[in-house]
Amino acid sequence: MISLNNKTIFITGGGTGIGLASAEKFIKEGANVVIFTKTLELNGKKYPIQKTLIIQGDVTKRTEVRKAMEEGIKKFGSLDILINNAGVAKRENFLETNEKDWDFVIDVNVKGIFICIQEFIKALKKDSLKTEGKIIVNISSGAGIYGVDEIAVYSATKAAVINITQGLNEELKNLGIKFVTVCPGSTDTKMFKGLFPEEKPYHTPEQVAGVIYKTITGEIKPDERLIVDVFHHIH
Ligand SMILES: NC(=O)c1ccc[n+]([C@@H]2O[C@H](COP(=O)([O-])OP(=O)(O)OC[C@H]3O[C@@H](n4cnc5c(N)ncnc54)[C@H](OP(=O)(O)O)[C@@H]3O)[C@@H](O)[C@H]2O)c1
Repeated sequence: MISLNNKTIFITGGGTGIGLASAEKFIKEGANVVIFTKTLELNGKKYPIQKTLIIQGDVTKRTEVRKAMEEGIKKFGSLDILINNAGVAKRENFLETNEKDWDFVIDVNVKGIFICIQEFIKALKKDSLKTEGKIIVNISSGAGIYGVDEIAVYSATKAAVINITQGLNEELKNLGIKFVTVCPGSTDTKMFKGLFPEEKPYHTPEQVAGVIYKTITGEIKPDERLIVDVFHHIH
């Protein structure tokens, strides 16, 4: 089992929901965490300064991502794990969805991951740090495995997350990076409450964070599609 003690984790969208619960779990397990997020709310949480770096930024802005990764390496010496967790969703009738909403959801959920993975690997190479043994966890969704009505555009972005993980796992084999997708079901966060206020979520953010943690340590293994389906691991 891989220990998180003194590993450095860069997590996007770590200011709320699943990202925040994950950051807290990682810190508890001894990791250094770079929390990269759009709004620096953190719900009044206080973190040990020596173990945490909190940076405000946007995953769709390459220069902001690059600077944050460089700052993470400067503070902690390297980056070991990237968690692409930042995400957005809009619930709307497909036929009424405008191109602005399409671009917004595709940009954050797909372009954001494209930029973060490129910059993560570039930052390591720039500082001649090893890529061998690094882990990239991409957060998709049950909606990425089977599309959901009224969030078909979001579902498409989450299917893209699964596919980019599989493609890169083959293409970048020589770098020795482990790629995996984690697919949560409905989880009690700001996103879910905003999308489906009439529904009761299946998971808490802490339960999903626990599955992400066990995926990193190797306690939970992905299936042949490189997917960890959270439903199968919370009872
Ligand atoms: N909740 C669910 O039911 C569920 C189910 C399956 C998968 N997921 C996935 O889980 C991940 C986390 O979602 P969540 O449920 O925890 O929702 P959340 O509480 O809304 O968290 C999403 C986080 O991403 C951040 N973010 C959004 N756009 C960003 C950008 N351009 N750059 C940097 N950060 C950005 C948000 O910051 P701001 O608050 O400042 O916008 C927020 O902190 C997402 O990828 C989501 O698709 C969620």
